[in-house]
Amino acid sequence: MQWFEEWFDTPYYHILYSNRDYREAENFLNLLTGFLKLEKKSSIIDLACGKGRHSIYLNKLGYKVLGLDLSEQSISYDKKFENESLEFRVHDMRNRIESEPVDAVFNLFTSFGYFETEEEDKSVFRSVSEVLKSKGYFVLDFLNAEYVKNVITPSASVEKENIIFNIKKHIEGDYILKEIDFEDQGKPYHFFERVKLTSPEKILKFADEFGFELIKRWGDYQLNDFDGKSSQRCINLFRKR
Ligand SMILES: C[S@@+](CC[C@H](N)C(=O)[O-])C[C@H]1O[C@@H](n2cnc3c(N)ncnc32)[C@H](O)[C@@H]1O
Repeated sequence: MQWFEEWFDTPYYHILYSNRDYREAENFLNLLTGFLKLEKKSSIIDLACGKGRHSIYLNKLGYKVLGLDLSEQSISYDKKFENESLEFRVHDMRNRIESEPVDAVFNLFTSFGYFETEEEDKSVFRSVSEVLKSKGYFVLDFLNAEYVKNVITPSASVEKENIIFNIKKHIEGDYILKEIDFEDQGKPYHFFERVKLTSPEKILKFADEFGFELIKRWGDYQLNDFDGKSSQRCINLFRKR
């Protein structure tokens, strides 16, 4: 089993990141949908939707949303929020998406870079391109590899729900590796996250190969312009040609 199939499906992943910033996410979506001028009732796929924080809010804004994620645990949680215009499904983003063509696909909060081969990375662009309408938007919200390399904090401890998570980060080849160790009820656990430090140029190359043009690149969730050195995020807005 690959790390991303296991770790994201555990309760510990959700405990460790329980302080995810919902307000920042909603503010980001307000700015993003405002910029895109997407009409209400437009259809959006939230690819790698996790516990559905973006999907649910986009649906509240009036969009028809399909949230997809590999984690069965997350999707079974998300399903409680379903309605006529909000659906969740277990799906591996490397595979073809069964759906009517949609107006936009969002891949948010570093839900890319998990795979070993370039073929797998490309398969994400392929499946997004296939499911988008012509002129449809693809938003890929990824980390800024250059920034991450420069500001890496090697170790930290975080206490959540009486569990002390010891976290160590380091760069290994093309990847940033985050090792997560903790004990729960006397039992030791070890997990890791491994994200390929894909450069903005490489992302653009993949996008171009699958028929996307780059419309805009932002550097944070307030939609400030991207700066290669100082931006924390690399938020790419692509449009299908
Ligand atoms: C960093 S989380 C972000 C979740 C969500 N977008 C958010 O912002 O809350 C990454 C998500 O990617 C999902 N994921 C990992 N590999 C996947 C794959 N191959 N296909 C679909 N989803 C995947 C995980 O289950 C996890 O929910």
